[in-house]
Amino acid sequence: MKLEGSSVKKLPVAAAVMAVVAALSGPVMAYQAGDVIVRAGAATVDPDVDSGALKVNGVANITNGATTTVDVDSDTQLGLSMTYMLDDKFGIELLAATPFQHTIKTKGGLGPALGKLADVKHLPPTLTLQYYPMESSSAFQPYVGLGLNYTTFFDEEFKSQHKATYSGLELKDSWGLAAQLGADYRIDDNWSVNAAVWYVDIDTEAKFKDTAGNKYKVDVELDPMVYMVGIAYKF
Ligand code: NI
Repeated sequence: MKLEGSSVKKLPVAAAVMAVVAALSGPVMAYQAGDVIVRAGAATVDPDVDSGALKVNGVANITNGATTTVDVDSDTQLGLSMTYMLDDKFGIELLAATPFQHTIKTKGGLGPALGKLADVKHLPPTLTLQYYPMESSSAFQPYVGLGLNYTTFFDEEFKSQHKATYSGLELKDSWGLAAQLGADYRIDDNWSVNAAVWYVDIDTEAKFKDTAGNKYKVDVELDPMVYMVGIAYKF
């Protein structure tokens, strides 16, 4: 078949043209001033909880000889980050995500009686200044970052079994430092695979009350590690 024959003959020509284009465009260039890098992946917030005592009307609650504290579980959501490169070594990154949801449970003292207390959502936007130490010709681009986190809590909701007794749960927003370590591995001019980890200093105070008029308060350091694995695209 004539058509097929000519198509086959064109293949080596196309390959040669692509090789020339590749040679002219040089090695895969990494990041430079003005580049915007968007990263997306599965982001896990894993709190390293350090809870103060649950205070009832200002007094640390001790029940059956044990202090009542709280614990918070981890959650995974879609993480999105965007870096703007100031030059080939420094970039500014904003980390965002779909809202994380965590369950607060009580431990010690009232823990066995109260168990899982409430669910709460939060958004932890984090701004970091990043440093990329490798030469821009390197396919492997590790980076470190240091910056600021703001975490806002919302949709605080008691578990259904507690709704008749407790109400008014509120968690204070948090400002804190964030440190970051990450790496991109370039697949081509635009795409990379990415992995990153953040340590974020998130401290909050939770307040609520019960139908008898008692006021509850607990200070909680969440200080999570945030892990994200995904892809990166350079515009
Ligand atoms: Ni802290």
